[in-house]
Amino acid sequence: MNAGVVEAKSLNFYYGTFQALKEINLDIGANRVTALIGPSGCGKSTLLRVLNRMSDLVPETRATGLLKVLGRDIFDPGYDVNDLRRKVGMVFQHPNPFPDSVYENLVFGFRIAGVRDREVLWQAVEESLRAVDLWKDLADRLDENAVGLSPDFQQRLCIARAIAIKPKIILMDEPCSSLDPIATEKIEELIFRLKENYTIVIVTHSMHQAARISEMTGFMLLGELIEFDSTKKIFRNPCEQRTEDYITGKFG
Ligand SMILES: Nc1ncnc2c1ncn2[C@@H]1O[C@H](COP(=O)(O)OP(=O)(O)OP(=O)(O)O)[C@@H](O)[C@H]1O
Ligand SMILES: [Mg+2]
Repeated sequence: MNAGVVEAKSLNFYYGTFQALKEINLDIGANRVTALIGPSGCGKSTLLRVLNRMSDLVPETRATGLLKVLGRDIFDPGYDVNDLRRKVGMVFQHPNPFPDSVYENLVFGFRIAGVRDREVLWQAVEESLRAVDLWKDLADRLDENAVGLSPDFQQRLCIARAIAIKPKIILMDEPCSSLDPIATEKIEELIFRLKENYTIVIVTHSMHQAARISEMTGFMLLGELIEFDSTKKIFRNPCEQRTEDYITGKFG
């Protein structure tokens, strides 16, 4: 079951009249890490946000083409966006815990869904904290305000919050860009473990990071997906001159 978690065909996306994504064709397989790289402004975040229709939140935007996520056309007018966002979680560049307790951060998705069963909530809290290796550090600190945690803990808590409701796909937009090298290494180890259970799509400015953690890499430029292939191929022997120029640092 390694195909078809995300399938895009001739996907275009517009902010007003500006076309930010151009004829994107993409096939993302399950339980893999897929990295999106490319210079600033090439459309990486836009592509990521279209995948769970967070892009809807920007007014006067429009998408065309086909985008199937978990086998369903997410632009279908009857499609339930809330359901999509439960299945496709997101982690952002800067850790963004809510200014509330660790516990409330973790059960947020359940509160929205109206789940009140304390057993269910406790189980989700423990499981998600264990998944990000924070259980032993935070089990006794569930009442603490999350914004007081270190940046590393905050970002891991945000990942735990995303996985608490058991999504299928986790989107990460430069999740390490505000972290130091040690915290970055921890998040990378975490991503490596999480792919056993989740499909991960990560935007990164760091080509080293993409090379370290992903199986597949997409190189984007000016809204186009120039090349999408195994990470080894992209970094060792890309087909496109523009990919090679980018990864060898000829432009950035
Ligand atoms: N809300 C918006 N309204 C209008 N244009 C936008 C909006 N968000 C992004 N854009 C434009 O769309 C293009 C792609 O932006 P996007 O943020 O997806 O790029 P990116 O590859 O993530 O860049 P970075 O590496 O700097 O994060 C850019 O030209 C950007 O200016
Ligand atoms: Mg971005």
